[in-house]
Amino acid sequence: MLGRLNHVALAVPDLAAATALYRDTLGGDVSEPQALPEHGVTVVFVNVDNTKIELMEPLGEDSTIRPFLEKNPSGGMHHVCYEVDDIIAARDRMKASGARILGDGELKIGAHGKPVLFLHPKDFMGTLIELEQS
Ligand code: CO
Repeated sequence: MLGRLNHVALAVPDLAAATALYRDTLGGDVSEPQALPEHGVTVVFVNVDNTKIELMEPLGEDSTIRPFLEKNPSGGMHHVCYEVDDIIAARDRMKASGARILGDGELKIGAHGKPVLFLHPKDFMGTLIELEQS
């Protein structure tokens, strides 16, 4: 079921500072910032050879990454995103296995305009997992 690693998302308290670090210190290929109000984040993508790193800063007061940054004030790894070739089959497989899907259990449209779902970190050894239709 698991396909390629689509991205690793890092929550950061200061997107401009994180972008400068990835661009100037690490020599990364960084995108322009994109505000995604429906996801409560502003993101910058760092394109690396085999995947992407997504730098995310909270956008709006009820951003879902605010509680994460309260626990991890200097930032940290927020989730990993794997591609799947059939997101509906993946959702049904996760439900059948007893793994919890965040929210109402239904698919959402993710940051790349494709259907996604998030799996509860407590069911996956402490890591928040995003599955995205490839
Ligand atoms: Co993501």
